[in-house]
Amino acid sequence: MRRLELLDLACGNSSLSRRFARESARVSAVDASAPVVRLARAREPKEPLGIRSLVGDARRLDRLESGGFDVVVSDTALRDIRDADRAVGEVGRGLRPSGRFVFSICHPCFDVRSRSAGEIEYRAFTTVVSRKVRRYREPYEEPASCKVGDGAFQESPGFPRPLSWYVTALGDAGLVVERFEAPAPRPERFDGRPQAPFVAEVPLHRVLGGRRLADGAGGRAVSGRGAPGRARRARDTARR
Ligand SMILES: C[S@@+](CC[C@H](N)C(=O)[O-])C[C@H]1O[C@@H](n2cnc3c(N)ncnc32)[C@H](O)[C@@H]1O
Repeated sequence: MRRLELLDLACGNSSLSRRFARESARVSAVDASAPVVRLARAREPKEPLGIRSLVGDARRLDRLESGGFDVVVSDTALRDIRDADRAVGEVGRGLRPSGRFVFSICHPCFDVRSRSAGEIEYRAFTTVVSRKVRRYREPYEEPASCKVGDGAFQESPGFPRPLSWYVTALGDAGLVVERFEAPAPRPERFDGRPQAPFVAEVPLHRVLGGRRLADGAGGRAVSGRGAPGRARRARDTARR
């Protein structure tokens, strides 16, 4: 049986890549950070899975062939990519017709470092845990950090965007939205923490899935050469 060709976009230290490779997918993994890709490659000798790890900009995947992938995944990374519509355009180009793009994002309301916060109010006989949210409608830039290894973090800007932005970007790349999920966190993640009941009610992540149209409409928006819907989308120019 043919192995699934899978691309992990902005792969970080390749934990997700490795899970899919163990399930026998043939995995390519791309990240813009050379140190992060070094960490990803360093895992290979201990558990060889044949992952092709590349340093590259998700917005310009020139080294990857068009229509070569059955699936592209991206875990909590699109928000870290400036002008990520170009990356989504590249996904459209890289997928074979009917291929799928599945990605997760931190929720642009509830999991934004500078614009949302958990709040615990201790009242008489009860405790209320809630979330404050400031600013949602337009894309903006904020400082952020992401975990790149055991206890190691990388500082880089984040670009929170409204959920509609992602749906539009998928459409512009020739992908139809198939899934839109709000997964609940695994219980063990929040064991014993006071915010656990709140987080169960207000999931901090969204998972979206798109499929490239079979008629070859995907791949219109390639490498910044004029994505059709870009004029309709606010760019990541708004600052703090
Ligand atoms: C929050 S981390 C997520 C990493 C990984 N997907 C995970 O779940 O562990 C975001 C990643 O996006 C990468 N990144 C940011 N901009 C990028 C770009 N233009 N092209 C490729 N990767 C990029 C960063 O280097 C970082 O590794």
